[in-house]
Amino acid sequence: MSLSRVENPCFLLFLFVFQAIFILILYRGGPSNVFRGLLDSHQVLDYSKTHDVYTNLSLFTQAPNEEAMPYCSAQSPIFVGPLTVTFRVLPSERMIIKKNPFVQAGGLYRPPHCLARYKSAILVAYRNQEKYLRHLLYYIHPFLQRQQLSYSIYLIQQVGNGTFNRAKLLNVGVREAMKDEDWDCLLLHDVDLVPENDYNLYVCDEYYPKHMSSAMDKFQYTLPYKSFFGGVSALTPEHYMKMNGFPNTYWGGGGENDDIATRY
Ligand SMILES: *[C@@H]1O[C@H](CO)[C@@H](O)[C@H](O)[C@H]1NC(C)=O
Ligand SMILES: *[C@@H]1O[C@H](CO)[C@@H](O)[C@H](O)[C@H]1NC(C)=O
Repeated sequence: MSLSRVENPCFLLFLFVFQAIFILILYRGGPSNVFRGLLDSHQVLDYSKTHDVYTNLSLFTQAPNEEAMPYCSAQSPIFVGPLTVTFRVLPSERMIIKKNPFVQAGGLYRPPHCLARYKSAILVAYRNQEKYLRHLLYYIHPFLQRQQLSYSIYLIQQVGNGTFNRAKLLNVGVREAMKDEDWDCLLLHDVDLVPENDYNLYVCDEYYPKHMSSAMDKFQYTLPYKSFFGGVSALTPEHYMKMNGFPNTYWGGGGENDDIATRY
């Protein structure tokens, strides 16, 4: 689960190792299995060799017969692990479009070569951060395509100069998104975060909402407080309905995240 804040492109090995150990402990049911886990996934963890996020994406070409398309493989055949992320050059809109020929108008994508096993909606609450947005789109489109997902990216924009209300924007976004498609997963995504490893799947956990940016350099590698739920979170429409949406009454930054966290 590694993500990079746009403001600070430097990636620290320490952070990753720390995170990886923590995650492995969580997912492998105890410290005894940690070292095996680290060895098994050694190539995945090696951030000294990163790959372009567009690597081998051109291998996904249009299937000749769409009706007879097979399901996508359980694991994508083109995963590379750590991705090269840099914010030095600002990609133009034209370049992003050119590099993502299978993305349809409205930011919608379906794998051209197979039937997706999973449908994720990416919801981005947004206002006047075009630079961040272009960096995000340049990286996130190929990132999601590598994972063979069906996806749409929803940009929910607040107009005017009033206080930014992330919760309200996301509520509107969920409502609009669910009109389009029966999404398996809703990803609430900050505009200034970019994923750095294609094994970091943008899918939901069936039972619990997932917080995918548990360590970010902005907060010096620890959560600002235990229940923080911003950054990138993944929840199913069922989770969302159960918690009755996000409380619209929190204006400004971050407050709504605490309220959601306490509902679980
Ligand atoms: C890209 O695909 C080719 C052919 O399948 C493969 O040999 C190569 O290792 C892939 N490159 C990366 C970086 O995975
Ligand atoms: C918002 O603020 C900017 C700069 O402070 C100003 O130019 C613009 O007119 C304002 N817009 C609205 C809708 O008030």
